[in-house]
Amino acid sequence: MTATPVYLSCALPEQALTPLEGLCRLEVGKEGLPLHAGAPPPGADACQGVVCLLTDRVDRALLARLPALRFVSSISVGVDHVDVAALTERGIPLGHTPGVLVDATADTAFALLLAAARRVAEGDRFIRAGQWRPEARWAPDFFLGRDLAGATLGIVGLGEIGRAVARRARAFGMRVVAWNRTPRDEPGVELLGLDELLAHSDFVSVHVALAEQTRGLLDAARIARMKEGAILVNTARGGIVDEAALAAALDRGQLFAAGLDVFASEPLAADSALLAHPRVVLTPHVGSATPATRGAMVKLAVANARAALQGRPMPHCVNPEVY
Ligand code: GLV
Repeated sequence: MTATPVYLSCALPEQALTPLEGLCRLEVGKEGLPLHAGAPPPGADACQGVVCLLTDRVDRALLARLPALRFVSSISVGVDHVDVAALTERGIPLGHTPGVLVDATADTAFALLLAAARRVAEGDRFIRAGQWRPEARWAPDFFLGRDLAGATLGIVGLGEIGRAVARRARAFGMRVVAWNRTPRDEPGVELLGLDELLAHSDFVSVHVALAEQTRGLLDAARIARMKEGAILVNTARGGIVDEAALAAALDRGQLFAAGLDVFASEPLAADSALLAHPRVVLTPHVGSATPATRGAMVKLAVANARAALQGRPMPHCVNPEVY
């Protein structure tokens, strides 16, 4: 057994770690204690590798405490929690887990879209609160939601997940339009400018990665351009949408509902304005949360770490220019 110290941010099943056997000595982090500059790995000076989660903060301040670091492997596709430029400057590869969470995340987006359109969470709360009584019962205008068939879905970010959502939407009889920073062809999807998409879409689903260029992409001005009665779904990253502007648009009745799996700050603060609106459907960042998908993500992250420990390029590297 070599003594190469590698920090693993959370406990993983022993079987998943077999590929790292004999290549390193794993130091496993404590549950619920994210890694950040104020809480570096034990023995930070000697740490040569980090296998992290999207809840960790791998920024310049943390990296300054890891002088021996040779690789970072994140169990996530998104890497906005990592300062990629700082890693690249030091020639350190960053691994991530693309591809394997496409269908699970697209399913989550669609679950939120349907739940927001048909007021599923609101109906559930209504019944549990004992409000479904003879004087509040089935009537032609009782608990009306929104139709999907014939409606327009605007996809912001036509990457793999955006395209998987487009396929689901077409099966529901929706017209699909999309905006992507670099034009991209997808059968049955019309590309539009972002403002035009927002003005014409009955549903908008966000699928861009969070980066400098997309932080606050759906700001107050863009939300104000959205169609009257539209529904916004976000399963990408909270920082892409101005949450205060979204809450205000819901309050003034411009937007009908929202389905949100991601938030600017997670866990969501108890005083978030989003919690006050009955037509906001919330899930706690579970886009990829199925056993098969999470298992596949761990497998890719471990494969990335194994390659780095063996001195090979990572199979899924965010900054391959380091090689
Ligand atoms: C999930 O949000 C991921 O980036 O994997």
